[in-house]
Amino acid sequence: MSAFLSCPELSAQRIVLKPVESSDAHDFYELWTSDGLSVSGGFEKPGDLDAVVNSLNYFKNLNASGFYFKWSIRLCDTNEFLGELECYPLKPQIRPWMEWGLGYSLKKSAWGQGFMSEALARLLHFAFAESVIIRLKADVSTHNARSYRLLKKVGFLEEGIQSAKNFSNGQFNDMTLMAFTRERYLQEQQALRAELG
Ligand SMILES: CC(C)(COP(=O)(O)OP(=O)(O)OC[C@H]1O[C@@H](n2cnc3c(N)ncnc32)[C@H](O)[C@@H]1OP(=O)(O)O)[C@@H](O)C(=O)NCCC(=O)NCCS
Repeated sequence: MSAFLSCPELSAQRIVLKPVESSDAHDFYELWTSDGLSVSGGFEKPGDLDAVVNSLNYFKNLNASGFYFKWSIRLCDTNEFLGELECYPLKPQIRPWMEWGLGYSLKKSAWGQGFMSEALARLLHFAFAESVIIRLKADVSTHNARSYRLLKKVGFLEEGIQSAKNFSNGQFNDMTLMAFTRERYLQEQQALRAELG
């Protein structure tokens, strides 16, 4: 098991998770300003490309500190940018960092091909099998059926509705709390291995 030093590059079957760089700014600008993404993702659109460069530099420093992991998701074969994935300790002042939050988005043309399921499966293995994270959680807007379906598919369970949990784009939003624990993940992996013989 590894301690957290800095954000690692993680490879899966078709995709690779790469720690963000300021040179990713054009890709992130297109993603973050694309139609509907700020609403379903629950954030404010960046004003211009410089704001994105600043933001990525900020995340690059956090990545180096080990206090935050933010990746771009790229195709292994062509390096094409598909989207983003991030993971961060929720109480960084208390060690060990038991509970981590999760965020992600794909550019629209990459939806419906299983890329985020693959990215989350890789993240789960990293978090629970290669590292010592005890619990991962995600807040999903109650209107975001696609994201809810994705989390259920990779093994997260619903723990309840959080009223007015998020304020973005001028309104308060209720969010569903979804979570996965290391204990359950390892049990399920063990059962799967036994089933496969
Ligand atoms: C949430 C989001 C990442 C989900 O994207 P997605 O494309 O539905 O998820 P995946 O990449 O895992 O693809 C799964 C779909 O691909 C299909 N698929 C095709 N080939 C596949 C393959 N090889 N492996 C797995 N699934 C595959 C699945 O059947 C599934 O389709 P379905 O939902 O119609 O059943 C995307 O909608 C998004 O970026 N939304 C905007 C941002 C956002 O909401 N972020 C989350 C905030 S909580």
